Order: sequence, then C-alpha cells, then structure tokens
Amino acid sequence: MTKTLVLYYSYEGSTRKIAELIASTIDADIEEVKPIKEMKTKGFAKYMWGGGQVMMKKRPELKPLNVNLDDYDTIFLGSPVWAFTVSPPISSLLEKGCLNGKQIAFFHCCDGAPAKTEEHAKAAIEKENSFLSAFSCINVPGNYEELKPQIIAWVKEIANI
Ligand SMILES: Cc1cc2nc3c(=O)[nH]c(=O)nc-3n(C[C@H](O)[C@H](O)[C@H](O)COP(=O)(O)O)c2cc1C
Repeated sequence: MTKTLVLYYSYEGSTRKIAELIASTIDADIEEVKPIKEMKTKGFAKYMWGGGQVMMKKRPELKPLNVNLDDYDTIFLGSPVWAFTVSPPISSLLEKGCLNGKQIAFFHCCDGAPAKTEEHAKAAIEKENSFLSAFSCINVPGNYEELKPQIIAWVKEIANI
C-alpha cells in the first residue's frame, strides 16, 4: 500500500478516537484538522451554532496542517455528522482544493442519524479524488468495543493486509 494519512476533525473526541485506532492499525500518520475559529460551547447551544454553520453552508478557514499532503496517496478522512451531513471543517477541506488526486476512505461518527452524510461525502470526494469506501460509527462512547473489530477489518481490507 502507498503512504497513508489519517486526517480528521473532531469536536468532542469520538472521531479522534476512531482516527487513532485506524492510524495504529496500519501504522499511518495522523493529523487533526482545526478551524481557526472553533465553537466554544459543549452544551445544547453547540447544536444551534454548529447546525447554523451547516445551514448557512459555512466553510471555515482552517489552521495550516503539520503535514505535507503531497506526501500521501491514500487518506482516511474522518468527520462527525453535523445536521445530517459532513462537518463544515471537513467540507472546507474538500471544497477548497486541499485534497486532489488522492484515494480517500471516509469515516464518520454520529449519534444515530447520519442521513445522507456518506452520499454527500462521496460526491464531494469524487470531484477531485477517488472514493474508496465509507464506514459509519454510531455512538462511539457507548459502542466502541463493538465497533473496534469492525473498523480494524474495514481498514485492513482497504490497506490490503
Ligand atoms: C452541531 C452538531 C450537530 C450534530 N448533528 C447530528 C446529526 O445530524 N445526526 C447525528 O446522528 N448526530 C449529530 N451530532 C452528534 C455528533 O455527530 C456525534 O456526537 C459525533 O460522534 C461527534 O463526534 P466528535 O466527538 O468527533 O465531535 C451533532 C453534533 C453537533 C455538535
């Protein structure tokens, strides 16, 4: 397999946890996408703020990455589901030309209502990149032990190991 990066955004840690599992499974590099302006609330207001960002199709400015994307051919791209779709920081990454010519496997974390997140991600990925596969992680805090072997199997299948 070619050189692989796990690239993700996580607001509350679930997507980070899955990203770390993927990276350790195939010994890949890992990098977190960080918006310059992150929301500050962890309470109910996060749904208003974050949901509002999605509704208004905001594409936040991102902090520079600590990796050179040119070094990677294959990317595991992870996002939480926000308002039934891809989170705005990952949409920024996909729509601002940061990723092109890559093979991308997409994973998302949600509380149980992913709706068309996978379809939206696939369409965005396919504009400039090849879409490999997708994996949906529902309720990571409650289901991690059940999800873990499934994710490892998914990753190994993609990595062909
Ligand atoms: C702004 C916002 C919107 C959300 N919208 C959804 C949703 O539409 N469907 C869903 O199942 N979960 C939704 N969630 C829950 C998160 O997707 C879920 O808790 C996810 O695991 C969080 O990942 P993270 O810990 O990496 O941030 C939302 C969370 C936030 C903050």
